[in-house]
Amino acid sequence: MQQQKIIILDFGSQTTQLIGRRVRELDTFCEILPYNKMPLDDSSVIGVILSGSPFSVYDPAAFKLDLSCIRGKYPILGICYGAQYMSHTLGGRVEPAGSREYGRQNLTSIDMDNPLFRGFQPNSQVWMSHGDTITAIPDGFQCIASTETVKYAAYQAGGGERLWGVQFHPEVFHSVQGSLLLKNFVVDICGSRQDWSAASFVDTTVAEICQQVGSDRVILGLSGGVDSSVCAVLLNRAIGQRLTCIFVDHGMLRKNEFNDVMHDYQCLGLNVVGVDASEKFLSDLAGVADPEKKRKIIGRDFVEVFNAEAKKITDAKWLAQGTIYPDRIESLNITGKVIKSHHNVGGLPKEMNLQLCEPLKWLFKDEVRRVGRSLGMPEHLITRHPFPGPGLAVRIQGDITPEKVRILQEADDIYVRALRAYKTRLSGEEARRELAAGVPVDMREGEIEVSLYDQIWQAGVILLSTVRSVGVMGDERTYEHPVALRAVTSTDAMTADWAHLPYDFMAQVSTEIINKVKGVNRVCYDISSKPPSTIEWE
Ligand code: XMP
Repeated sequence: MQQQKIIILDFGSQTTQLIGRRVRELDTFCEILPYNKMPLDDSSVIGVILSGSPFSVYDPAAFKLDLSCIRGKYPILGICYGAQYMSHTLGGRVEPAGSREYGRQNLTSIDMDNPLFRGFQPNSQVWMSHGDTITAIPDGFQCIASTETVKYAAYQAGGGERLWGVQFHPEVFHSVQGSLLLKNFVVDICGSRQDWSAASFVDTTVAEICQQVGSDRVILGLSGGVDSSVCAVLLNRAIGQRLTCIFVDHGMLRKNEFNDVMHDYQCLGLNVVGVDASEKFLSDLAGVADPEKKRKIIGRDFVEVFNAEAKKITDAKWLAQGTIYPDRIESLNITGKVIKSHHNVGGLPKEMNLQLCEPLKWLFKDEVRRVGRSLGMPEHLITRHPFPGPGLAVRIQGDITPEKVRILQEADDIYVRALRAYKTRLSGEEARRELAAGVPVDMREGEIEVSLYDQIWQAGVILLSTVRSVGVMGDERTYEHPVALRAVTSTDAMTADWAHLPYDFMAQVSTEIINKVKGVNRVCYDISSKPPSTIEWE
């Protein structure tokens, strides 16, 4: 049976990816495409969503779509700019709002008979974020919801045409029944069968891999992270021992990480070659303090070590990568330029002539985790925080020495263990948000217990090895290094906020690090968000 899909046309909103994730949560496949890349004659499309945009419809540079390529062919839902653009283009009026309409509002009147609002509560809370507002809808259109200040909060085209617009953002958490609205659109109106699930993804992808690579051998670079690990297990299910994984230890992994991860991979039945190249990396890095130079050396050494290993697998025809969907989405920025960021291993020798296999390329991060669970992978591998390719090197200031790596590994280990051990109980809205984000939870009487580790995106310790501070231990004066703790919340690492960790937790970690890690006599907490800072220090 053909895979159904919803197309989300991206007009540059910051929440476009979120719309995609909400649709996938409805077990429905969707693709996010630039506003001007609507596929023609794709029989698998069952509906189209137009996203918001940073533009006003009157902006000369505003993104424009010829609505005739979708109108009458598919059910359409315009969100924010999408709603304003359709109203404006089809004969309505859009004007600057008296004051920017931003934040929580309640729908004061709702047409409960309209299929878009089936099951809605009176006064349902929605989230607004727009500078313009619709002041008149086209002739024949009906207003189907209002708030106190926004008359045309939602409309439907006349004559029962399956075209809707909402000025609020159903995709954001603060629109309390936003998921229901999207479900009404995707399932009831567009007719999604809701058959896109982790288990169905595994079945179809395993079959596709078998067909794609046939009896060839495949190489995969493992990093210990979620994406490459899930990719490996999926490939292993499809082609077994014809997959060779390469895991390089550059000497700047977390404490015991190389051995622990190798052990996990072996338990999963993967055919893994572990390469301990730590001496090479550390000797090439000796005396180098400049962050960019350090990165370049690590990148160059990595390619060299990986290639040397890959070349030994002489009959390999494919290189697999754990590329995921957010790496490939062509997002639009307000200058109208298309940015395409696509990470890949790069630098593999051309003569190896490898073809690329990217089985996770349609998945969001939380879906990768769900697929990992469906494949029976252990939870600690699935919920691992992201970790930078150059490892602890980007968390050590100045030159890198084995001693500094050891100090940082010890402090980092204490911090990460403590984050895993400290549990908080969440209830009500908080719990719903955590569940929606795919956080593994222990359900008890409506409350959930979640570790700090699972509530944050990423955490680590930074060794401020170019700084020294005076301390006193027992009767002794010390003159040692401070470390900074970093913990951030994020959904994609593009933006991040510092995590508000409990004071008692920070006090406990600080004491343990200073007492146990020789060379550290002070602990600070990094309270910078991204932007303007970044997650890593170097
Ligand atoms: P920044 O520091 O730019 O990091 O806010 C965003 C995310 O990317 C990770 N990161 C890297 N990952 N190679 C990687 O594979 C790198 O050189 C690198 N630098 C940063 C970082 O840990 C965070 O998750």
